[in-house]
Amino acid sequence: MRITGVIASPRGKKGNTYPLLEAALKGAGDEGAKTEIINIAKSEINYCNGCLKCFKSGKCIHDDDFEKIFLKLMKSDGIIFASPNYINSVTGQMKTFFDRMADAIHCQMFEGKYGFSISTAGGSGADEVSEYMNQTLRVLGADTTGHIGMDIADAEEGAKPWENKAYEEGKKLASAIRNNEKFPEQEEFHKYMQERMEKLITANKKEWKHEYKYLKKKKGE
Ligand SMILES: Cc1cc2nc3c(=O)[nH]c(=O)nc-3n(C[C@H](O)[C@H](O)[C@H](O)COP(=O)(O)O)c2cc1C
Repeated sequence: MRITGVIASPRGKKGNTYPLLEAALKGAGDEGAKTEIINIAKSEINYCNGCLKCFKSGKCIHDDDFEKIFLKLMKSDGIIFASPNYINSVTGQMKTFFDRMADAIHCQMFEGKYGFSISTAGGSGADEVSEYMNQTLRVLGADTTGHIGMDIADAEEGAKPWENKAYEEGKKLASAIRNNEKFPEQEEFHKYMQERMEKLITANKKEWKHEYKYLKKKKGE
C-alpha cells in the first residue's frame, strides 16, 4: 500500500503544515503503508494555459515536474493534500497543481483511490481550505476519509493535539485502503461526476481523442 502526501507550503519543513502531514504519514506507516512527501512548492510546475492539448493527446505542452509527480499519485492508493490557508484558499502552488489535472478529472483517474486533506491557518478558515482540497479529491474520483483543519489562533494547547489527530487520520486512511471501505454518502456524487464527464467527453470525442480512448478502455469497449 502506497500513500503520497503532496504539500504546497513554501515554508516546507519549517512551517506549521508539514508536521501535521508528517504525523499523518507516520500513522499510515504504522498501518503498513509505504509513504512519501512531495513539496510541490519546491518543484517546477507551470500554469495551465488552457490550450486543451492534454484532453487531445494526454500530454501537456509544459516539460516540467508535473508529470513525474502525477505519475507517483497514479501509483498511490492514498493521497493526502496539505496546504496552508492563503487568503481563504490553497496556496498558488497547490492551485496551479490542481489546474494541471483537468484531464485527470474528465477521465476520473482517481477512481478507487482514497485520500484526505490538511490545512493550517493563522486565524481562521483551515477547515474550509481542507474541505476544498477534499472536494478536489472527490472531483477526481477518490473517496475522502476525513480532514484536518488547524486554526493556529484557536490551538491554545499548541500543535501536539493536532499532530495526534493527524496521526489518527493517517491510520484511518490506511485502514480504509486495506479494507476497501465504502462511503455510501459519496457514491451518488461519484455517479453524477462519472455520467457528466462521460457525456462531456462523448460530445467532444472527435477533438478529445485521448480522453475518448481512455473512456472506451475503462468501459472495456
Ligand atoms: C500570503 C499569505 C496569506 C495568508 N492568508 C491567510 C488567511 O487568509 N487566513 C488566515 O487565517 N491565515 C492566513 N495566512 C497564515 C497562514 O495560513 C498560516 O501561517 C499557516 O499556518 C502557514 O502554514 P505553513 O507554515 O505550513 O506555510 C496567510 C499567510 C500568508 C504568507
